[in-house]
Amino acid sequence: MKKFASILMIALVFTTYLFSGSTASADEMVTMKEKKQVLNIAHRGASGYAPENTMAAFDKAVEMKADMFELDVQMSKDGKLVVIHDTTVDRTTDGTGNVRDLTYEELKKLDAGSWFNEEFAGEKIPTLGEVLDAYRGKIGILIEVKSPSLYPGIEQKIADELIERNLHKPANEKIIVQSFNHESMAKFHHLLPSVPVGVLVGYSPDGISDEQLMDFASYADYVNPSKSMVTSELVDRIHAFGMKTHPWTVRDRNSADFLLQAGVDGIITDYPDYVDFD
Ligand code: G3P
Ligand code: CA
Repeated sequence: MKKFASILMIALVFTTYLFSGSTASADEMVTMKEKKQVLNIAHRGASGYAPENTMAAFDKAVEMKADMFELDVQMSKDGKLVVIHDTTVDRTTDGTGNVRDLTYEELKKLDAGSWFNEEFAGEKIPTLGEVLDAYRGKIGILIEVKSPSLYPGIEQKIADELIERNLHKPANEKIIVQSFNHESMAKFHHLLPSVPVGVLVGYSPDGISDEQLMDFASYADYVNPSKSMVTSELVDRIHAFGMKTHPWTVRDRNSADFLLQAGVDGIITDYPDYVDFD
């Protein structure tokens, strides 16, 4: 019933918008944001302003009043869940090598801040547990399972971290788990059905078919495509299948405006201030 009401409201906003011309005024966009509560999601933390996937970037997301931050999870050689984007440590730390070939003790010695700016020297690669403990209740957390085929069993480990903290039950604490690996997300959904799941979709000229949407809807709550694929028609189709959409990655104000007008439910951005229409 709740889902139906929200779809109806979205359809009404969209129809009103459709008949009002092709561009929305700033006031109309504020109204749309308020009605739909478009989520402002800081990508890898507020990674335009602080080194991605570090506590500094997550602190910045909280400070900038983002609704959620996104992070990337992988696994160390000794099975610890660590927060880092690339499958190697080369780009974002002073070390070298594959994340999966380094122990947690080795990973935690690395400097994950200096590459971005000397002012962040000494930032560490956090564990998923540290991030959940530090930010739960303060801001929503969008967990991306990065390259799960490299880490057999990572879905169960993430589920365990959430269960251990009682974060697997629907509550005020917003947690979503997403991945480009859709098999992994179907698996996660079956392990922990109470935690919403998202499928990430990279750009394809073929778009996303109804067959794909129907398959996604059997286990996912969100379809999160590259912003380059988004049209208001795609957003409507995702909604028609009962799911929401949080496209990525916004790095300019025009893209944020475009996505808002297309009727998305959240915007994943390196710059949370670009998604602030107040
Ligand atoms: O949350 C979406 C986005 O993070 C997916 O791309 O490469 O930044 O992890 P990537
Ligand atoms: Ca990511």
